[in-house]
Amino acid sequence: MSETRELFDRWQMHTYAPGPVLVSGRGARVTDETGREYLDFTAGIAVCVLGHAHPAVLETLSAQAAKLTHCSNLFVNEHAPRLAARLAAVGGLGGRSFFANSGAEANECLIKLARKWGNARGKNRIVAFEHSFHGRTLATLAATWKAKYRDGFGPDMPGFAFAKYNDLDDVARVAGNDTAAVLVEAIQGEGGVTPATDGFLRGLRRLCDERNMLLLCDEVQCGMGRTGDWFAFRHADIAPDAFSVAKGLGNGFPVGAAVAGEKLSDIFTPGAHGTTFGGNPLACAVARTVIDVIERENLLDNAKARGEELLAGFRALREAGAPIADVRGRGLMIGVETAGPAAPHVEAMRKAGLLAILTGENVIRLVPPLNIGAGEVAEALAAAKTAFAR
Ligand SMILES: Cc1ncc(COP(=O)(O)O)c(C=O)c1O
Repeated sequence: MSETRELFDRWQMHTYAPGPVLVSGRGARVTDETGREYLDFTAGIAVCVLGHAHPAVLETLSAQAAKLTHCSNLFVNEHAPRLAARLAAVGGLGGRSFFANSGAEANECLIKLARKWGNARGKNRIVAFEHSFHGRTLATLAATWKAKYRDGFGPDMPGFAFAKYNDLDDVARVAGNDTAAVLVEAIQGEGGVTPATDGFLRGLRRLCDERNMLLLCDEVQCGMGRTGDWFAFRHADIAPDAFSVAKGLGNGFPVGAAVAGEKLSDIFTPGAHGTTFGGNPLACAVARTVIDVIERENLLDNAKARGEELLAGFRALREAGAPIADVRGRGLMIGVETAGPAAPHVEAMRKAGLLAILTGENVIRLVPPLNIGAGEVAEALAAAKTAFAR
């Protein structure tokens, strides 16, 4: 066992059972401490949208760190408002942003916005979905479906209910007069890479309008270009009242945001919500660069094209007899459901040089950088083929 692994075992809390010790990365490749290189289709769990060590990100990080790293929200910095304006444009909601440091915090902000808006109207319940995942803080856990994540941390925060995903009648049944908002992932990531149908998302928008409820989209995993559009709800041509974003926004530098349309833009007044680190100039400068590079390098189109190749490749493997039950996803957010447990296949892929994520019992999740090339897709498919053959 390596010294680093021993130190991990001794000094870090064992909240994960991690793979190899990684020491460096470039583009879609990472290297472990033994010098072994892997094709990284985990991208830090859908985070490194531009891959590792992208020159534009390095340049921004070093220039801004040398200029002003942090000044708190007691002052205005040059990058946060400009990032907010960019998010208002690419999200299509206009409105305003609140900056946080993670996906869970961005969702906490959505939940607080919904409660503040709802309490003024005599309602504060939030309807989330079966198989949802919204984070590990107590409020976002209460909105997360799997009881396993909440076990031992009770009592659960009250005010949440669950409806069946892709079942509008069930949402209509679960939502009552006391419901302030519906919180949905346009593609459930941790829940097994399950896309909502466009019709379901449009139906949710309609239902929320009819019943005066807010529609909130959690775009933490499926946002920032991952599905081939800036945000996954945009495929259904709908506008939520607010959405959260994190993961890909900083390409690995921790940053998240709650982006609210006009209806919720002025719900918070000074003192209503806050954060020390959120919106710091370094994080916001990096996020601005990430958005610029996604645009400049046409990465939404690349995500679509490479995603189609991956879907077709895995479907071909299935036709050829690989133990695959289903292949699904959009853009570069892909789930390969295996016929039995997926863990041995994820391990075999790692041995074949491809890093992928185990999701639930039987789904292999692939969320590579948005700038991978066709050659890397072919290489990943070849590694997967080798792994399935084992
Ligand atoms: C859809 C979704 N929401 C929220 C989160 C929580 O984000 P974070 O781990 O940055 O708090 C995740 C993390 O996987 C996620 O996939």
